[in-house]
This record gives sequence, C-alpha cells and structure tokens, in this order.
Amino acid sequence: KKTTETQKNVEAELEKLKKAVENCKACDLHKTKKNYVFGDGNPNAQLMFIGEAPGASEDEQGLPFVGRAGQLLNELLKEVGIARKDVYIANCLKCRPPNNRDPQENELKACRPFLDKQMELIKPKVIITLGRFALMQILGNDKKITQTRGLIFDKKTYIAIPTYHPAYLLRNPKAIEIFLNDLKTAKQYLG
Ligand code: URA
Repeated sequence: KKTTETQKNVEAELEKLKKAVENCKACDLHKTKKNYVFGDGNPNAQLMFIGEAPGASEDEQGLPFVGRAGQLLNELLKEVGIARKDVYIANCLKCRPPNNRDPQENELKACRPFLDKQMELIKPKVIITLGRFALMQILGNDKKITQTRGLIFDKKTYIAIPTYHPAYLLRNPKAIEIFLNDLKTAKQYLG
C-alpha cells in the first residue's frame, strides 16, 4: 500500500508527465490532433487499462474513452462492480490519428516512453490491454488477440490480461460476455 507521501509524489510526477506530453512533437500526429489525451483516472489504481489511441470524442475532450466505446466500457465495468474512478486509463498514442486510422510503428515508438512512465508511476497490479495495438505494445509484436485472449501473463511487476477493444464489442456484441469474464478475472487479482 502506498503512503500518502508517495501518493502525492505520484500525482506530481503524473502532472509533470502530462505537461511533457502537451509539449510533444515527437511524431506528426500533434499537427492534426485537437487535444492531447494524456490519460485519466486514479493515480493509485490497482487496475490499469491500455487502449489504442484517442477517437473523435476523446480528441475533442482531451480525455480517454469518453465516446461510444468508452460509454460501453463504463457500463461493463459497472456490471462487474468495478468503479471507473478506481481505475486508470491510458492509450498507446496520446494524439488522434487522422480519421482514426491505425497507429503507425513510428508513432507507437515515439509515444511509448510516455506509456512506460505512466505504468511505472501508477504501478498497477493488473493491466488489461484493449485490442491489438495495446497487446502488441505490452506483449510483443507477434501476438494476436485470438491467440492470447483468455490467457494471463505474469510480467513480474504486474499481470497482463489481453482482451477485446470496446469498439470491437460495439460491432460484435456476442463478445461482450467474454469481455465481462476477462474483467472478472482481473478483479480476482485486485486487493
Ligand atoms: N479507443 C481507444 O483506443 N482509446 C480511446 O481513448 C477511445 C477509443
């Protein structure tokens, strides 16, 4: 358990990191984005979600998962008894790719140090990767959702649980049940 002192430090460090993100020009996405989307949630979270990149609503508001996929995520969290205010949510990319195209390798690479630092500061017990790109960032480029879903990866300092992206669930509601099970699995590891 973190002391109040360390907690304050984590918050201050996250604030500093957010400022660094807001000055980032490491790839071209800063030219087309409206807002940087740093990440949001409880700095003391035991559970962290990693998504792909901001979409249109996130780009407008500067916050992660506030659009349709985010609303679905909120509902599903509620359904298994996890409060969104208790978790931390970040994306692989902090800027929206034009027309929500896939992140490019150079963009993922440029943005990766920010994600690493967020993980290092928050020190979650469990990381749920949402979709293909978060999975690749955490478990390596050769991994596919279909091969990894349902598995749990002990990464020594945290446990990684790969699952579907909520945007995929919007298109494939049949996968919602599986997603809920993954959330329940994650919950078992939380204190
Ligand atoms: N999809 C993502 O991957 N991240 C968001 O923040 C919103 C939609």
